[in-house]
Amino acid sequence: MTETSTGSTMSTGAPADSDRNSLTTGADGPILLHDVHFLEQMAHFNREKVPERQPHAKGAGAFGVFETTHDLSAWTKAALFQPGAKTEMLARFSTVAGESGSPDTWRDVRGFSLKFYTTEGNYDLVGNNTPIFFVRDPMKFPHFIRSQKRLPDSGLRDNHMQWDFWTSNPETAHQVTYLMGVRGLPRTWRNMNGYGSHTYMWINAAGEKFWVKYHFHTRQGMAFFTNTEAAEMAGADADFHRRDLFDAITRGDHPVWDMSVQIMPYAEAATYRFNPFDLTKTWSHKDYPLVPVGTMTLNRNPENFFAQIEQAAFSPGNTVPGIGLSPDKMLLGRAFAYNDAQRNRIGVNFNQLPVNQPKVPVNTYQFDGHMTFHHAGAAPTYAPNSGGRPWADQTGPVADGWEADGAMVRSAYTLHAEDDDFGQAGTLVREVFGDSERNQLVDQVAGSLLGGVREPVLSRALDYWKSVDVGIGQRIEDKVKAGAARKAAERVGDN
Ligand code: HEM
Repeated sequence: MTETSTGSTMSTGAPADSDRNSLTTGADGPILLHDVHFLEQMAHFNREKVPERQPHAKGAGAFGVFETTHDLSAWTKAALFQPGAKTEMLARFSTVAGESGSPDTWRDVRGFSLKFYTTEGNYDLVGNNTPIFFVRDPMKFPHFIRSQKRLPDSGLRDNHMQWDFWTSNPETAHQVTYLMGVRGLPRTWRNMNGYGSHTYMWINAAGEKFWVKYHFHTRQGMAFFTNTEAAEMAGADADFHRRDLFDAITRGDHPVWDMSVQIMPYAEAATYRFNPFDLTKTWSHKDYPLVPVGTMTLNRNPENFFAQIEQAAFSPGNTVPGIGLSPDKMLLGRAFAYNDAQRNRIGVNFNQLPVNQPKVPVNTYQFDGHMTFHHAGAAPTYAPNSGGRPWADQTGPVADGWEADGAMVRSAYTLHAEDDDFGQAGTLVREVFGDSERNQLVDQVAGSLLGGVREPVLSRALDYWKSVDVGIGQRIEDKVKAGAARKAAERVGDN
């Protein structure tokens, strides 16, 4: 007797015959090539995965709302930062080095990506849970990421490789101090702060320009794991951070962050004691205090992880009128990298997917390509045109530009009065960390160095920490030497 399908359809909408039995000649016979539903299921399954993000593969996110509670109109004309504006948004949190199945609680910097669906187009702020970064030239970024990932032969992660990169690039000291400190192990994503990290430009309605840095302070309070807790959690629940955010939002416990900015008058960039475009540096809050902006609340979980989180495409190059980039070379390198990664990872029309699609009308001359969904009908595909389709035609100095300063060179940034690689890392250790954080840092660094770091990297690492702070460096060296001696004695005992 033939059973009729009452359930699923094929992707064409026609009824599917069976999701359980393939079509064969006789119960034990060969499968027939014209069982189209079976072939389509198999073929689509083979294409179910898209490449994971190169860095920041493991993460999750949620939707929410950004509300501007203060008047920032003196500094930016961006609609989303005008008083009372409420903007729908998406946030994605992540680790940097781990793959998409890796544990959430491995020590790492955390990504803090935000997409604001503004009335002037999408604005993305793609930052981290620390206000600075490891390197200051984008040429170094692929090298940095590879040094944090896996060895080419064994496929294992490797402390030696990490420290080799860090100690060969001393500008990493500030970010490595954060990473080896408590912020390297946030308890949950809800319990961490976020930062735009780079310096961005704001432009007001009169065309005046300012430099800004973004801060998001968690209302849930900062909280951290110890190494032991994080290691246990990595085994017990590799998805702990993902689960925590999803469960909190499901039970109506919506996490909130207060956003503020540091604002530097445009002309002061030239003379500030640190080069304000160097991503390895912060601006002192005494020099540029926090100016409150508004609140970000995450209140809606994705309905489909793949469609809305995996296919989410953030880029620091996505700005709106009133917000610009800056001469930070890392930021300028990133302005290319993300959309290109997404063309590879998702497809050329990734901005047509609902999660990435702006909430405003789009009139782009990008045309055709895989999976074209939105189109301009029979409108001219070229500009200028006589068919009445508008095109952009700005000329002259750009609203969000800055003065370029000379011949083309390959060079480090211009050094400002107090610029060096170790100064701010030392300030962090001495003035921001308390005793218990300093003790934790010494234990963490010594433990990491004892985990397979060999000469000449080991000696370089000890010098690196003495350059951050002589006392801390000495304590790390003493601990490493004592640990090495203990290990040697254990080996003798074993023989
Ligand atoms: C020149 C330097 C950098 C390059 C070339 C770069 C490149 C990339 C690429 C290709 C991705 C994957 C994008 C995707 O597949 O959708 C990514 C993800 C990410 N990067 Fe960077 N990156 C750089 C520096 C930074 C810095 C300085 C930060 C933070 C301040 C950062 C934060 C992130 C975050 C949070 C993600 C995850 C985005 C998401 O949630 O989808 N990156 N980066």
